[in-house]
Amino acid sequence: MPHDYVEDELSRRSVFKSEQFLSIDYVPESLPHRQSEIRTLVQSFKTLISSPGRTSHKFIIEGPVGTGKTAVAKRFSEQMIQAAKRRNIRLHSIHINCRVNKTEYLVFLRALREFVPKFPRRGHSPDELLQMLVEVLDEEDRYLLLILDELDYFIRQRGADILYDLTRLMDDRLNATQRLSIIGIGRKIPLDDEILDSSTQSTLQRNVLRFSRYNRDALYDILGDRIDMAFEKKTVMDETIQVICDIASEHGDARYAIELLWRAGKRADSDQADIVIPDYARRAKADTHPELRKEIFAALPTQHKLLLLAAARQLREIRSAYVTMGEVEEMYRSICEEYYEEPRAHTQIWEWVQDLHSHGIIDAKKSGTGQRGQTTLIGFSDVPAEMLEQFLSGLLDTSKEAKRK
Ligand SMILES: Nc1ncnc2c1ncn2[C@@H]1O[C@H](COP(=O)(O)OP(=O)(O)OP(=O)(O)O)[C@@H](O)[C@H]1O
Ligand SMILES: [Mg+2]
Repeated sequence: MPHDYVEDELSRRSVFKSEQFLSIDYVPESLPHRQSEIRTLVQSFKTLISSPGRTSHKFIIEGPVGTGKTAVAKRFSEQMIQAAKRRNIRLHSIHINCRVNKTEYLVFLRALREFVPKFPRRGHSPDELLQMLVEVLDEEDRYLLLILDELDYFIRQRGADILYDLTRLMDDRLNATQRLSIIGIGRKIPLDDEILDSSTQSTLQRNVLRFSRYNRDALYDILGDRIDMAFEKKTVMDETIQVICDIASEHGDARYAIELLWRAGKRADSDQADIVIPDYARRAKADTHPELRKEIFAALPTQHKLLLLAAARQLREIRSAYVTMGEVEEMYRSICEEYYEEPRAHTQIWEWVQDLHSHGIIDAKKSGTGQRGQTTLIGFSDVPAEMLEQFLSGLLDTSKEAKRK
């Protein structure tokens, strides 16, 4: 009888019970070590339910990578909506990622489409969209909690007009029903005079909630919950959890801890082992890096990926912290050939470098007038070049395959 690979795979044992509880998008019911933050938000926003329309709220959540900002905002807003529903208050929340919705126009369009799903994409200014949003809220007696996530990316690119416009809109309606409240989220949101006028600044500065990095014990509790949900009983050794907490507590990053846990489990499965031993976690560390934000790289256009791959490969080859723009361009041309892509001109590449730099994806700085002459130097401070090279080639190989088919 021929070998049945499908049955084979299906009957294979796994340490996982429900792997989806370790996925990036999953937000658990309970968020250990963030109870007091959630409570602070509830206290600040409760008038949205106890006396809707009376006031509008503005809040900022700040904190390092993977400290639960997005998760807390999602859990909090969901509970607010449920509580409002029980009281027949038409409160909505919209969670907008400002790294993806890159302009004020797109953010307001996204918000408006929540209520007018077929609203046309073109033909209006951002101001008009915002006005229409408020009109819809007024007409339909609705309230909106607008959550602007990864707002720091947006402000670095576009300035803080969006905060100014939203705040002004609320202030203009001083005696009317207040329909809109906002929460802005970011690692570090610049709220200084260069960016914001003083009244917007002072309103926002009073309402900043700072999330700190998780310590070892906090990560241990967070992982404990996930293990119960995602793994078969008694498959993860306590020492393994300890190792992961040790590694991840350097960054205080829960996302990294969860990724290490998932990878360690995957290694156990590929070894056909019943138990996730500490060594799998140690080896998982070599496969990933907390600053390698995969979703950001994956969302970039192909040409940007090619350019980044060129920089990563060049950096690995010459084993230096920085490479020159000229070296990167040369490598870029050869990589374009490798991937059957037309290389773009110098000015275009230079613009991409500036763009990627302002997004915090690469470091770019002017060199001193040393032996290489004045040029732009490119580096990645956060992620090892080799790891980035491997990850980007993986992404590009997949699309190359697709293109050839
Ligand atoms: N207290 C917690 N309990 C359980 N899981 C948590 C907790 N905090 C964070 N997580 C999980 O860790 C991961 C990262 O959290 P989250 O996305 O909220 O971080 P973030 O602060 O928004 O990071 P970034 O700045 O990168 O956007 C998510 O999968 C989230 O569910
Ligand atoms: Mg987040």
